[in-house]
Amino acid sequence: MNLEVITTKDGSNTIDNKDLDESYHSKNGAINESKHIFIQNGLLSCNKNPINILEIGFGTGLNALLTQVTCDKRKIKNIYHTIDNNPIKSNKYNALNFCKELKIDNTDFLKMHNGAWDKELTISDNFTLLKIHNNLQSFNNKINYDIIYFDAFSPEKQPELWKENIFRNLFNSLNKQGILVTYCAKGEIKRRLKKVGFKIKSLPGPTGKREITQAKKI
Ligand SMILES: C[S@@+](CC[C@H](N)C(=O)[O-])C[C@H]1O[C@@H](n2cnc3c(N)ncnc32)[C@H](O)[C@@H]1O
Repeated sequence: MNLEVITTKDGSNTIDNKDLDESYHSKNGAINESKHIFIQNGLLSCNKNPINILEIGFGTGLNALLTQVTCDKRKIKNIYHTIDNNPIKSNKYNALNFCKELKIDNTDFLKMHNGAWDKELTISDNFTLLKIHNNLQSFNNKINYDIIYFDAFSPEKQPELWKENIFRNLFNSLNKQGILVTYCAKGEIKRRLKKVGFKIKSLPGPTGKREITQAKKI
């Protein structure tokens, strides 16, 4: 995999996957995007405590880090499961500037990355992490989730991850009132989510993006 650490417009890094010609976050601002989509319109849209989250695509660990910081600040107990079939190497995650940009100590971020895969890791008082090394297509979830952060590469680059059967599995793995949130606002993807039972809401996107999608299991 040809991966390169780059800097986005808000000063935070992301990774550019040169093989796919796609970055892990928006080039308009990685921290800005992740906070807007997954924290504001995911985590903070759900009033549960404790809360179970599933992330599709651990990647740089930015969504996990921002979730942990928010949960620790607001005393929300969180079990965070994240799936990825191609974890980044230490030379990449050690180069990421998220903690510097957020002005926080990097101990917990490195614990997340250095910790073993497929083993529950206690990162802080409120945050337990399980990194699942698997393909989304063969993922068999063990618990029900309150929120799903759907952060796969785009439907143009990885159409196999945006199929109806994938969404049906994810719908079935959510608790009632659970939500799936994604940066993708394509009509075809929203129709597929609707077809498997979700109620769809289009919300304003972060800088450089008109809309994002929040899908709820009523
Ligand atoms: C857009 S990036 C995720 C960004 C991440 N959420 C973050 O905060 O940095 C997409 C991720 O999905 C992973 N991925 C690609 N295909 C996958 C598959 N079939 N199953 C599970 N993960 C996959 C990639 O390795 C990559 O880390």
